Amino acid sequence: MLNVPFVPMEEKPEVNPIWACRGFPAFPVVLVGVGNAKDLVECNVMTAVLVHMFSFDPPVIGVGISPCRYTHELLNKYESFSVNIPGKDLIEEVLFCGQKCGKETNKFEECGFTLRPGHSINAPVIDDCLVNLECKKTKVIDAGDHVWFLGEVVHANAANGDIREKALMYWGGEFRLVGDCIRKR
Ligand SMILES: Cc1cc2nc3c(=O)[nH]c(=O)nc-3n(C[C@H](O)[C@H](O)[C@H](O)COP(=O)(O)O)c2cc1C
Repeated sequence: MLNVPFVPMEEKPEVNPIWACRGFPAFPVVLVGVGNAKDLVECNVMTAVLVHMFSFDPPVIGVGISPCRYTHELLNKYESFSVNIPGKDLIEEVLFCGQKCGKETNKFEECGFTLRPGHSINAPVIDDCLVNLECKKTKVIDAGDHVWFLGEVVHANAANGDIREKALMYWGGEFRLVGDCIRKR
C-alpha cells in the first residue's frame, strides 16, 4: 500500500478550472511566421505561447491559434509555417507582434525583421530569433477556442550557446526567464 498523505478538501478547495490553469508556471514564447516569403505575398508574424512538441521522431511541433487571428486564416491557407524562439532582447517586438494585427500592420517592417523564406519552406523565418524551426503542416486540430496547427520540422537553425538562458517565457500577463536547474535526471 502506498503511504500517501491525506490532504483534507478544505486545504485545497475546488476552484474554477480555467483559473486553476493559471497555476502553470509559464510557457515558452515563440514568433510564428506564415505566408509566402518567396513571392512576398501575405507574410505575417504573430506571438504565441500555446506551443508544444507533439513528437520527437519525427519532430513535430504545434501552435495553438485562435480563429480570430489573421494568422489563423493564413495557417489554413498555406502549407508551411515557421516557429521562431526569440531572446529577451526582442521583448518589445514580441509584445508588438502579440498586439497588432498583420492585416493592418506590416509587423516585419515595424519590427525591423528581415523578410526571407526558410531554407526548406516558403514561409518567412525570423533570423533575429535564437532558433528557427521550419515546419510543414501535417495536422489541424480544433481543440475549442484555439486551433492547433501541427507541423513536422523539416529544417532548423539555432544560435550557439545556452538558448534556454535567453529564451522568454510568459503566462498570466508576465514575461519571465527560465529559472536555475535544480537537479539533473
Ligand atoms: C505574450 C503573448 C502570447 C500570445 N499567445 C497567443 C497564442 O498562443 N495564441 C493566440 O491565438 N494568440 C496569442 N496571442 C495574441 C496574438 O499574438 C495577437 O492577437 C496578435 O495580434 C495576432 O496577430 P495577427 O492578427 O496578425 O494574427 C499572444 C499575445 C501575447 C502578447
